[in-house]
Amino acid sequence: MSNLDVIKISISELPQLQHLSKVTFIETFAAYNTHEDMQEYLNNNLSIEKLSQELQNPNSEFYFAKLGESSIGYLKLNMAHAQTEPQEQKALEIERIYVLKEFQGIKAGQALLNKALEKAHTINAEILWLAVWEKNKNAISFYKKNKFEDFGSHIFQLGKDAQTDILMKLDLI
Ligand SMILES: CC(C)(COP(=O)(O)OP(=O)(O)OC[C@H]1O[C@@H](n2cnc3c(N)ncnc32)[C@H](O)[C@@H]1OP(=O)(O)O)[C@@H](O)C(=O)NCCC(=O)NCCS
Repeated sequence: MSNLDVIKISISELPQLQHLSKVTFIETFAAYNTHEDMQEYLNNNLSIEKLSQELQNPNSEFYFAKLGESSIGYLKLNMAHAQTEPQEQKALEIERIYVLKEFQGIKAGQALLNKALEKAHTINAEILWLAVWEKNKNAISFYKKNKFEDFGSHIFQLGKDAQTDILMKLDLI
């Protein structure tokens, strides 16, 4: 889409980032989880305080996918110690990649993923990696389409529910 852009998010856009983070998380996961577990995640992980700290971490970067003036998706990247798990190789983590439901399928997710690849090359990362819930078949298909491969699993605690995440990586060397 011609007026689709990927723009780095600044601290002044924190309220918009929080709104988009909450809406996309609810759209993606509310149907599969209890209200209490969802609420706990939203309160703990997507609070203004938490997102503000993350935005100001020099080893994390956030980007909006913009369609004209509207922010329709976002990406969170982690480098070095900001990664949620240490990796043996020099690595870049996609911690979050979300597109609003009504705008999925118009290549916004691809534009965000391309930004992650661009950043990975800039920092000479050997792998681009991520963790995805084993039941999130859509996202897994999207990553496989982009040549990511499984390399392990870990447990992700959503409220009281211990969920299995598949670890996926793309080799860059
Ligand atoms: C996964 C997600 C980011 C993909 O973004 P998107 O904007 O819908 O995908 P795009 O339109 O950019 O698609 C890019 C390519 O991937 C393919 N693709 C996207 N979703 C797919 C799916 N579910 N199955 C197979 N292929 C898929 C598209 O067909 C397209 O391929 P093409 O270029 O050959 O046509 C988006 O659907 C999303 O936000 N989902 C909910 C949040 C989520 O689960 N995030 C991941 C958490 S780990």
